Amino acid sequence: MKHLISMADLSNEEIIELLDMAEDLKEKRLRGKVTDLLKNKSLAMIFEKSSTRTRVSFEAGMADLGGHALYLNYRDIQIGRGETVADTARVLSGYVHGITARVNSHDTVVDLAEHASVPVINALSDKEHPCQILADLLTIQEYKNRLDGLKYAWIGDGNNVCNSAILGCAIVGMDIVVACPEGYEPDEDIVAQARAMGGNVTITNDPAEAAKDADVFYTDVWISMGDEDEVEKRMHDLANYQINSELVALAKHDAIVMHCLPAHRGEEITAEVLDGPHSVVFEQAENRMHAQKALMLKLMA
Ligand code: CP
Ligand code: NVA
Repeated sequence: MKHLISMADLSNEEIIELLDMAEDLKEKRLRGKVTDLLKNKSLAMIFEKSSTRTRVSFEAGMADLGGHALYLNYRDIQIGRGETVADTARVLSGYVHGITARVNSHDTVVDLAEHASVPVINALSDKEHPCQILADLLTIQEYKNRLDGLKYAWIGDGNNVCNSAILGCAIVGMDIVVACPEGYEPDEDIVAQARAMGGNVTITNDPAEAAKDADVFYTDVWISMGDEDEVEKRMHDLANYQINSELVALAKHDAIVMHCLPAHRGEEITAEVLDGPHSVVFEQAENRMHAQKALMLKLMA
């Protein structure tokens, strides 16, 4: 693995290795042990969209490892005035040891990786969010002590996070059932790719089918960044695809509820569930940093 553009760039062995590293880094940080393994290294972080978790976890993670992160809002760099992605990738490669980018179009992060001579990490595109899924797998492993053979229920929009979850589940051997309304299915090529890897992927319109005996529940916002023109239609179409107590009651008694955040209580998930005993969302959010530190070490050390 040179870059992390798609979840499918990772093998099961690489995921296991990264999760081991992340657990170790998490434990060391808890004990206040300094691990400056990226001392004198820099990470450029290009953002075309908003972010709380991704931006701060990369920046704080880089500081933890003794390195330096540069936040680059696309409007402030020359990309915003028409410099090509390819030229930007070549130039940044001369200064920094890694580039992470949150982009509107997935092609942009592919283009960056093609032209950079340093590792490029997808920090969310319209198609995927692999860093999120890596942290999610860490969280699931912490709570369930395993990954393979679990049932993962995705409820709601089959979006970018869902696409990466489908690939992640296929790689580690988790069964995934996506419950979404017609027209909100995950990308066909992603589902085909996951199935070709041996993944057990089910797409249904019935949230109860996904929820039944689930080990892991997952949802994400109904209106992703870039979907703002469709607010009314999405609110209407997705109204029955909410994680609520009735749905959670269908799952295993020790099911965990996950959300990549930010959350909209009362839309894709009720406050009762998000803030309730099954929810692991804040641990999950914290794990973004531990998982990405492992990833940066693997790619940049
Ligand atoms: N989950 C996630 O990527 O959050 P941010 O948009 O805040 O980075
Ligand atoms: N699907 C959401 C995820 C945010 C972290 C979005 O793309 O806006």
